Amino acid sequence: MADVLIGLQWGDEGKGKITNYLAKDYDIIARFQGGGNAGHTIYTEKQEKLVLHHLPSSVLHQDKIHLLGNGMVIDPEILVNEILNLKDKHNIEFFGNLLISNKAHVTFPIHLIEDEENEKFMKIGTTKKGIGPTYCSKYKRDGIRMGDLVNSSELMAKMSNLMSRKILNFYSFYDKYRNFGDYLAGFTCDTSDYLLKEIKKEKKILLEGANGTMLDIDHGDYPYVTSCNTLAAYAPLGVGIPLTEIKNIIGVFKAYSTRVGAGPFPTELKQTSKEFRILQEKGQEYGATTGRPRRCGWLDLVQLKQAIALNNPTYLVITKIDILRYLSKLKVCKQYSSFGQLQYDKFTVHGEMINDQGFFRYIEKSLGKEIRYVSTGPLNDQIIKLTD
Ligand code: GDP
Ligand code: IMO
Ligand code: MG
Repeated sequence: MADVLIGLQWGDEGKGKITNYLAKDYDIIARFQGGGNAGHTIYTEKQEKLVLHHLPSSVLHQDKIHLLGNGMVIDPEILVNEILNLKDKHNIEFFGNLLISNKAHVTFPIHLIEDEENEKFMKIGTTKKGIGPTYCSKYKRDGIRMGDLVNSSELMAKMSNLMSRKILNFYSFYDKYRNFGDYLAGFTCDTSDYLLKEIKKEKKILLEGANGTMLDIDHGDYPYVTSCNTLAAYAPLGVGIPLTEIKNIIGVFKAYSTRVGAGPFPTELKQTSKEFRILQEKGQEYGATTGRPRRCGWLDLVQLKQAIALNNPTYLVITKIDILRYLSKLKVCKQYSSFGQLQYDKFTVHGEMINDQGFFRYIEKSLGKEIRYVSTGPLNDQIIKLTD
């Protein structure tokens, strides 16, 4: 049995924090898509901040299995640094409990260069972590997989083919990547095969999404999206288990909206407004991967309804509710207008006073879903189960 946790907005909803909190209830926690573009923030018991890009946000739980699925793209340089940082700064080491799919695709320097070049004429505002070009290699079928990276006889031929796309001296990279391959070899295996066996033993699996629903390559606001599917529906494919093993879908969203990079953002606040400055400063809305300031806006129920229709979450988790306390006035978007014409939504409200409970009930009623957890701060224990 596996549950899926996904973000319902444009990323950075607090997926990392919620995954770290819920991990205690699972045996295996796995990422199923994305790569170095993700930045998932968690805090240790000593309140030390940790940002994860490839590793699942469960790594503080040393009794759990942490898994990187086949649907991911992996930059070995970033991943090795993540593992070393955990060891050096937090005294966390993996002894047989970190597994990396041999089918996940590897990001090479050529992908980083292509991402940078593409941005010059197509301003998506990517994280420049080579995500789009790596997925392009995968679908073009000249990609190199983790299984190749850790197998020396295949790597030289494949790297020379890939690098020849640009005038790059692949020998200057070969040794470096060979070393990454050697370091990661002990973790790399057929993770789908492993999960299928563990499912038979009734182990509980949590599949942690990255990016967010509106960044999905098919259902997000294309072309201002990432280069893979981010919806819950992709989770079983991204780790190689049957669709029928998915039980619950957990949808995480922030009490307001943010977006990094270009693209439409209907509820965006002007950067000169007081409310924008409050959300950005109190909410510390700066990208966990790139440090870029995030665009901020009001909660958008039209957008959230679409995300809920696409993912059908079993329950919702709302984060950063504490930040709303700094605002004297709170707005949510319930309908869009186009050329002055209101596109009415089915749900109407009658301007009731919104206190915390009223706010949650209002959102639940609008979205037709239960909010089960409310996150009230970045630390692991700053969370309330609403039924409590
Ligand atoms: P993710 O990509 O979805 O994992 O989210 P990020 O880690 O990129 O961004 C979420 C930010 O909000 C991080 O800095 C978290 O530490 C922080 N955060 C998460 N939940 C809460 C919350 O309830 N309140 C506050 N104030 N911060 C939170
Ligand atoms: P987490 O997992 C926020 C955005 C980028 C850009 C677009 C494409 O931390 O929620 P890419 O580098 O993927 O080709 O960039 O997608 N983006 C994210 N924004 N959080 C993320 O991940 C993101 N991953 C990608 O800013 O607009
Ligand atoms: Mg993030």
